[in-house]
Amino acid sequence: MPTGGRLSIATAVIELTTRFPGTDPDLPAGRYVVLSVADTGTGMDAAVRSRIFEPFFTTKAKGKGTGLGLATVYGIVKQSGGDILVDTDLGKGTKFSIYLPLVERVSKTSKRDSRTRAVGGGTETILLVEDETDVRRLAAEMLLGLGYQVLEASDGTDALRVWEAKRDSIDLLVTDVIMPQMGGHELAQELLAREPKLKVLYVSGYTNDVLARHGVVQPEIELLHKPFSRGVLGAKVRKLLDGPPSRPGRAGE
Ligand SMILES: Nc1ncnc2c1ncn2[C@@H]1O[C@H](COP(=O)(O)OP(=O)(O)OP(=O)(O)O)[C@@H](O)[C@H]1O
Ligand SMILES: [Mg+2]
Repeated sequence: MPTGGRLSIATAVIELTTRFPGTDPDLPAGRYVVLSVADTGTGMDAAVRSRIFEPFFTTKAKGKGTGLGLATVYGIVKQSGGDILVDTDLGKGTKFSIYLPLVERVSKTSKRDSRTRAVGGGTETILLVEDETDVRRLAAEMLLGLGYQVLEASDGTDALRVWEAKRDSIDLLVTDVIMPQMGGHELAQELLAREPKLKVLYVSGYTNDVLARHGVVQPEIELLHKPFSRGVLGAKVRKLLDGPPSRPGRAGE
């Protein structure tokens, strides 16, 4: 949608009684979850439409697209025993409908998650430091939903400013590890020097060896891997708040 438009996302559960009536999909009868994504963009002609799932096929300018987007989607959906229908025409927009076989069982992880969710929240004040706005908003909403007060900062330097203004009310620091300017470990060291009883929870999408190079070494620190659910975040936060103060992590050289 190069000039804007409307993107609609919908889900549904449907029952296929005969083999799928569409052109290429070939799904056995059964119950399916349908996830559809429709846009009012350029649409595609038949020539482009026939190649969209090919790896590296792209109509975007050099450096703008990999052509791997839809090939990846196709691989995931096919591996899951599903299929994708594409309804498109030049100037008419595009609708992708993803069919995935419905699983009635509740997965082990979501069961565990609902149990940890029952752990409950609290009313303490948390300084949340994360440079990616969407991730920070999501984590803040999770914490607010658990009853906590949340102070947000977008990086280490910003967090120091918030700390100076609100230091007496802050019970826990929840910080991303790798951020531009000042990283999470350096920030924690700065704040622990001012308040040795401060509790710290690190959050990161990186693997442990990458983190070790940033001065964050397990098991001396509490680390939460991204992406995380509200239940897992809530349980870690509660455990830290109820436990002893954080020991300063081993300093990076
Ligand atoms: N919603 C859409 N509307 C119109 N054309 C589309 C749409 N989705 C995909 N296409 C066409 O299919 C091609 C392949 O899509 P695919 O997602 O595989 O790669 P890409 O979008 O070009 O690259 P990348 O996903 O890396 O940004 C696109 O270049 C475009 O021509
Ligand atoms: Mg794409």
